[in-house]
Amino acid sequence: MSNANILFQPFKLGNLELNNRIVMAPMTRTYSPGNIPNDMVVEYYRRRAEGGVGLIVTEGTCINHKAATGYPNVPFIHGDEALAGWKKVVDAVHAEGGKIAPQLWHVGGVRRPGVNGDEPGHSPSGMGKPGKVTGHAMTKEDIDEVVAAFAQAAKDSKEIGFDAIELHGAHGYLIDQFFWDGTNQRDDEYGGDLAQRSRFAIEIIKACREAVGPDFPIILRFSQWKQQDYEARLVETPEALEAFLKPLSEAGVDIFHCSTRRFWEPEFEGSDLNLAGWTRKITGKPAITVGSVGLNADFLPEDGFVEFKSAEPASLDNLIQRMDNEEFDLVAVGRALIANPDWSNKVRDNLSNDLVAYDKDMLKELV
Ligand code: FNR
Repeated sequence: MSNANILFQPFKLGNLELNNRIVMAPMTRTYSPGNIPNDMVVEYYRRRAEGGVGLIVTEGTCINHKAATGYPNVPFIHGDEALAGWKKVVDAVHAEGGKIAPQLWHVGGVRRPGVNGDEPGHSPSGMGKPGKVTGHAMTKEDIDEVVAAFAQAAKDSKEIGFDAIELHGAHGYLIDQFFWDGTNQRDDEYGGDLAQRSRFAIEIIKACREAVGPDFPIILRFSQWKQQDYEARLVETPEALEAFLKPLSEAGVDIFHCSTRRFWEPEFEGSDLNLAGWTRKITGKPAITVGSVGLNADFLPEDGFVEFKSAEPASLDNLIQRMDNEEFDLVAVGRALIANPDWSNKVRDNLSNDLVAYDKDMLKELV
């Protein structure tokens, strides 16, 4: 392997100081009975901090709204008990020298009644996927309520000691459903061209900024791909990406988390830059890349996991080279960190041969 040092250089943004460039990707694990992160969850995150991860982004954790949840046993980020559970997680991670941000989540139209109540899914146009109305099209009052719930979650997160927040604006959940023309067919000020479809996200970012003050980092995760349609894209050109990202950046995003399934894939023809590379170049803000680091299996949540034809481009050499070239600042690691809580320390110590290969059966327990 080439010199891995860049991965282990500290990162500083305002008050946020990370020991290294490695981020734990947010991963839903559904091990929070009663929607309360318990001691198993505390231990799960503590082990990743002990294993050397610079910044942990938690699994998606649901804001205080009647339709925010989509899956059983997902943690909430509201209510005394859930917040007390998260505080234990935060304290355990800090005791290991790590940093941690919650991923604030509203699933939108993906929700089906029955999980945490009978409320139907809420989404821009009543659709969880394009063309299929299964739920409730949000009114202006609904929108205001959700914006306020995101802001409250941001405020509470700061109060219990989290180091930053991440807004889940990716993968076809609520915020992304507003971005996506397939699921946003509104004819009011929240629909129309991409700039208008971004209005909902911008209101959330501004409300969160207001709630946490100027020095508390706000990370926005976004993606071109959607769980409902892997081929769907928000933008086709760097110019369109710029038009999309600039207003989000100006609204108060500090770090962009650019979700791709394979970090080495060029985003647009004519350049090797990936989505994070373009985002950093366009916004001048730090960018997190992600996608199959340390793996040879593709990420397809609905269809299971499929092998790559070639594992070669996923090499750490490729990743480090791109970081050396300042294409992006941070790298998120998902499944490799489920398989190896000490992934960071093993890579740092050149013990890659000791790393365990990821297997989806590992999701059957929380260790
Ligand atoms: C995920 N992913 C994910 N993403 C997200 O933004 N919020 C979430 O709650 C989840 N949940 C989740 C659960 C599980 C079991 C997996 C495997 C993945 C996507 C994840 O953050 C990451 O982007 C992908 O896994 C790709 O990274 P790796 O695994 O290839 O390093």
